[in-house]
Amino acid sequence: MKIAVEIENLMFFYPDGNKALDGVSFVVPERSKTVILGPNGAGKSTLLLHLNGLYTPNRGKVRIFGKLINAENIREIRKKVGLVFQDPDDQLFASTIFDDVAFGPQNLELDKKEILRRVEEALKAVDMWDLRDRPPHHLSLGQKKRAAIAGVLAMEPDIVVLDEPMAYLDPRGQEEITAILNRLNNEGKTVIVSTHDLDWALEWADYVVILNAGRVMAEGDKSILTNRRLLEQNGLKAPLLVTLFEDFEGKLGIPTSLKEAKQKLKKIML
Ligand SMILES: Nc1ncnc2c1ncn2[C@@H]1O[C@H](COP(=O)(O)OP(=O)(O)OP(=O)(O)O)[C@@H](O)[C@H]1O
Ligand SMILES: [Mg+2]
Repeated sequence: MKIAVEIENLMFFYPDGNKALDGVSFVVPERSKTVILGPNGAGKSTLLLHLNGLYTPNRGKVRIFGKLINAENIREIRKKVGLVFQDPDDQLFASTIFDDVAFGPQNLELDKKEILRRVEEALKAVDMWDLRDRPPHHLSLGQKKRAAIAGVLAMEPDIVVLDEPMAYLDPRGQEEITAILNRLNNEGKTVIVSTHDLDWALEWADYVVILNAGRVMAEGDKSILTNRRLLEQNGLKAPLLVTLFEDFEGKLGIPTSLKEAKQKLKKIML
């Protein structure tokens, strides 16, 4: 297994002394669809802000494709790791959505035609092309989220990190973003997503990290999401499919996708 991100004993204190990360260690396999789960305040956003060097650890290490993030390689790291913030207002700053999405590619010193191609492709992917001339503060929250995602898509990074990308999106928007994440992953990119939606995580992820009070409580494949005790101990609620099937576990086993659940049901019904 090749590793895209390696976190080793990461500690981080906010300036007010609040310890947000308390010795976090885990790896993200290359080309994986990784979810970071945990209750409010677990440290998910703080952790993700370390992945492209926006935050610097107080102690511990972050490696991207084996390279330790440092002051010299930070530009290179930011080309490799694209981060969509939890709050789009922290991300969008230009006077139009178009300029906002163009900002990253412009910094890569690409030619004009390539910049335009990337901006158009990214904005169309999130269904925001028609709103390209609008100022970010004139958009709904869901539209801002989409624009922030487009900003990272336009950078075409190898590792795409999204902090709660589905929050505030309508069901169609959630489906569209899921399709984009799958496409990126099929193209060979590593996709890392924090979310509170365990049903979505069970369906989508192939690697799971559970964070609580600044520590990693579990890491591995998505069978973690069928462990009700572990989830509840960490302030999480078992996915609906797990709740539905756990009484029949001995007979049917617990499915880790809707497709698998349907197959199991068909088998006993037909
Ligand atoms: N700017 C800040 N100054 C001080 N403490 C902070 C700051 N931002 C976050 N924290 C604290 O750090 C801890 C981790 O917060 P973080 O935002 O990383 O959690 P989270 O898992 O992303 O939560 P949520 O699910 O609500 O987004 C919390 O205790 C939080 O109160
Ligand atoms: Mg957060």
